[in-house]
Amino acid sequence: MTTPTLYGIGVGPGDPELLTVKAVRCIGASELVFVPISRTGATSLAERIAEPYLDRTRQRVITLEYPTDGRAQSELAAYWDASADTIATMLGLKGTGAFLTEGDPMLFSTFMYTMEALHTRHHSIHIQIVPGVTSITAAAAASGIPLARNDERVTLLPATAPEPELRSALRASDTTVLMKLGGPADRILNILGQEDLLAHAVWIRRCGQPDQEIVRDVRALAGRRLDYFSLMIVKRPSN
Ligand SMILES: C[S@@+](CC[C@H](N)C(=O)[O-])C[C@H]1O[C@@H](n2cnc3c(N)ncnc32)[C@H](O)[C@@H]1O
Repeated sequence: MTTPTLYGIGVGPGDPELLTVKAVRCIGASELVFVPISRTGATSLAERIAEPYLDRTRQRVITLEYPTDGRAQSELAAYWDASADTIATMLGLKGTGAFLTEGDPMLFSTFMYTMEALHTRHHSIHIQIVPGVTSITAAAAASGIPLARNDERVTLLPATAPEPELRSALRASDTTVLMKLGGPADRILNILGQEDLLAHAVWIRRCGQPDQEIVRDVRALAGRRLDYFSLMIVKRPSN
């Protein structure tokens, strides 16, 4: 009897051509495809990205809810446990499933929490992780901005971090990638202005998706509400 297996698959940031050969093979080998949604009735970005590789005549797509409305981690844990239980029940004793996640599964992804809940609650399930193209590397490619040369230091952090942490990262790094930018642009623009970095930042929204947008003069974002699916690459000029 084969062991029940769950592939945690990164489907990349939006362009279906950025799925790896392995991701496509593992999706094809799965009779069950689990996709995260933020609330009941919502659509799944990961599902949309992987759509060309799904065969709905033989595969079943199951949505799993992961609220993104700012609830406490303690409350979210119940959703992670529930998803793990659903996956375990549906895989049964020998099924194969794919959990699709936007970008890479090990970077700010719902898959990591599900994986931990599976380890704790259903350790008989074999988990295999298939890395994906991250939004960071895709944004660097789309904007033509190198992330690191020679011994340059790169810092990655959520823009929701406290202001002193953002400032010290911007000062200590050659390249700073600010993720989770959803919300008013002005907070970040003020910090970049005070650090004299406004001319060295690029904003990339929905990289690889049909509505991708790249803004090279971020001052143009003043007064705007930024999309959650956007990031900034800040490249300190070399001396
Ligand atoms: C929950 S994290 C997911 C990261 C993802 N696992 C990855 O590997 O890129 C969501 C954040 O990633 C960034 N992001 C994800 N997809 C993006 C895209 N297509 N374009 C720009 N930024 C994106 C945004 O900063 C967003 O707030």
